[in-house]
Amino acid sequence: MPLLRDVFIALSGNKVLNDASKKIGLKFGANKVVGGITVDETIERIKDINSQGMSVSFDNLGEFVTNKTDATKEKDLILKMIQAIGEEGVDASASVKLSQIGLNIDYDFCLDNVREIMDAAKTHDMFVNIDMENHAAYDDTIRIVDQLMEEYDNVGTVLQSYLFSAKDDVYKYKDKRIRFVKGAYKESPQVALQAKEDIDKALELLIRLHLTKGEGFTSIATHDHNIIEDIIEFIKENNIPNDRFEFQMLFGFRKELQRELVERGYSVCVYIPFGTDWYAYFMRRLAERPQNINLVVKSLTND
Ligand code: FDA
Repeated sequence: MPLLRDVFIALSGNKVLNDASKKIGLKFGANKVVGGITVDETIERIKDINSQGMSVSFDNLGEFVTNKTDATKEKDLILKMIQAIGEEGVDASASVKLSQIGLNIDYDFCLDNVREIMDAAKTHDMFVNIDMENHAAYDDTIRIVDQLMEEYDNVGTVLQSYLFSAKDDVYKYKDKRIRFVKGAYKESPQVALQAKEDIDKALELLIRLHLTKGEGFTSIATHDHNIIEDIIEFIKENNIPNDRFEFQMLFGFRKELQRELVERGYSVCVYIPFGTDWYAYFMRRLAERPQNINLVVKSLTND
């Protein structure tokens, strides 16, 4: 459904709708895929997910922040969530998008912000994942990740299988905790694979390499049951212990598959976004899988 995909991508970038959505709370079924607007609401969701035997990685919604005041506000909200997680003793780690805390404003300002987050997380023995954004942010993100990896042992990042650079990176980060994804942004053929089959194949290859070439921890972040089953077969054939990897999925997606993996004895981590900036995230999820439109239809018929 390429046309529908383009419609949702265009809607996700609409500034008027983005601004309006911040004032109205979670609507149109977005509460099924967003953990909550506030820290307290999200903590309740995290408790619920933990009670189902799964861990959580939280994400403060919103990216591409363009001024220091807003970036500082976003960093403070992340610190508030880390504090609440520590106080409540729930099982959750942090996922951080550097463009939200100043990457597009000032490199050193961003580095200071992320160090503050790292320090707070460290006091609560919490892991921090630095999310990978569009390719324009790749070099700076990797530079910050490498700097943080020298200073902290509770940090990891994401490799996107569509990027040509991912195969070199998997060797570079073979002993680190890395999340593997297909990649969510539209990138040029100069830097990224374009065909779905190639991206899928690359994802499997990267995961296999990371599981066997080093001592790292592998987060397999996909909703693709074919890839998940292939990897499980590989894990069994190679006797890879269950504490060397986990599956990750987005909050609200493929809940039965999440449950089934837990029942089969595998670790599952749910990526739970929260905050007022839910609209663009929600539209991107609809673009990825237009069948998700049934969330909107159900919410409208139930309201
Ligand atoms: P994809 O969307 O390609 O689907 C493959 C197949 O799976 C479908 O054809 C269908 O059969 C099945 N399927 C998928 N969703 C389904 C559903 N809801 N119900 C039923 N069947 C379904 N990206 C990025 O660039 N940087 C990042 O930092 C991250 N971080 C991240 C964290 C986590 C936890 C996840 C899960 C994903 C990301 N991503 C990401 C996004 C990622 O790059 C990718 O865009 C999405 O996960 C979509 O790709 P999938 O691998 O899930 O399968």
